[in-house]
Amino acid sequence: MHEEIAGNAGAKVLLARVQDLIGHDLREVEQVFLAEIESGHPFVGEVLAHLTSYRGKRLRPMLVLLSAQACGGIEQAHLVLAAVVEMIHTATLVHDDVLDEATTRRHVATVNSRWSNETSVLLGDYLFTHAFHLTSSLGDATACRMIGRATNVVCEGEMAQVADRGNLSLSERQYLDIIEAKTAELCAVSCFLGAHYAGAPRSTCEALDGFGRALGIAFQIADDLLDVVGTESKTGKSLGTDLQKQKLTLPIIHLLAQSSPAEVETLRELLAHPSPHTRATLLPLLESRGSLQYARDRADEFTVSAREQLASLPDSPARQLLEDMADFVAVRSA
Ligand code: IPE
Ligand code: IPE
Ligand code: MG
Ligand code: MG
Repeated sequence: MHEEIAGNAGAKVLLARVQDLIGHDLREVEQVFLAEIESGHPFVGEVLAHLTSYRGKRLRPMLVLLSAQACGGIEQAHLVLAAVVEMIHTATLVHDDVLDEATTRRHVATVNSRWSNETSVLLGDYLFTHAFHLTSSLGDATACRMIGRATNVVCEGEMAQVADRGNLSLSERQYLDIIEAKTAELCAVSCFLGAHYAGAPRSTCEALDGFGRALGIAFQIADDLLDVVGTESKTGKSLGTDLQKQKLTLPIIHLLAQSSPAEVETLRELLAHPSPHTRATLLPLLESRGSLQYARDRADEFTVSAREQLASLPDSPARQLLEDMADFVAVRSA
């Protein structure tokens, strides 16, 4: 409990420091984002108004802007790219909520629950195409190629996860590959492009890519922990969907690896027939076998590796914030 209060207070302080440094730029990013997706069609406008009624954390725009700031300074291209990565992220969330049959996102009803799966599929497409349209406004093939490639990898990661639904033999390596693709790739490209458009040398761009990648993996491990131990009122989204959809995540993979053949059989039976009680049934076991702690420790390891990538950058408030964000994502409660 104390840790949680400290964690929340720490997050607030961190966000306030981010606002102090790049708040003005983040507000401009919002304008770019909204201007790009604006529609004169009443229904599209209604769905977009709902979608933008509650903001997420804006982690990926922060990564673009802080990487830029740590490598020389924020340019107009960064504002565009920050809006682009948030648009792609939002598109994946809208589609992901269909896959997960989730009812709540960012503290409000998901598009699929408020309207329909059809609306979500089309809205996700609308956001993807606008993201690429917006990227092309930079008139630079590098940005188009890198954003396109990263989005290819994200989609492949989501498809890999669907293909592995119900695979109770999923290894930690396979799990890490999936989360690197579906989540870390977009964080990596955010940091890479932040550095690239600040004029940083290739080696620095690659270091920032490595930073975003490790941070993204830590972020998703923490998210998967929240799916098991988090509270919906805090995260503002439907939880427990990984178990419901038989997506194996790190704590479960660890638990299966710790169990005797007989226990594995019982667990497999439980996981193969998820019910609303599955999460509560598994929690004490995940706790007592150290599976939650194992996942926390793995997230911490990726955090450490993320921070190490920044070693060659000159000391600056932006670099310090990037380091602190890596710590934050692993212990977040929302
Ligand atoms: C949620 O991402 C999806 C994952 C990759 C785990 P965020 O937690 O960044 O979502 P928002 O943008 O803050 O709502
Ligand atoms: C989805 O992961 C990550 C994406 C790339 C869309 P999750 O399914 O864990 O995300 P949440 O928990 O619904 O936000
Ligand atoms: Mg989901
Ligand atoms: Mg999740």
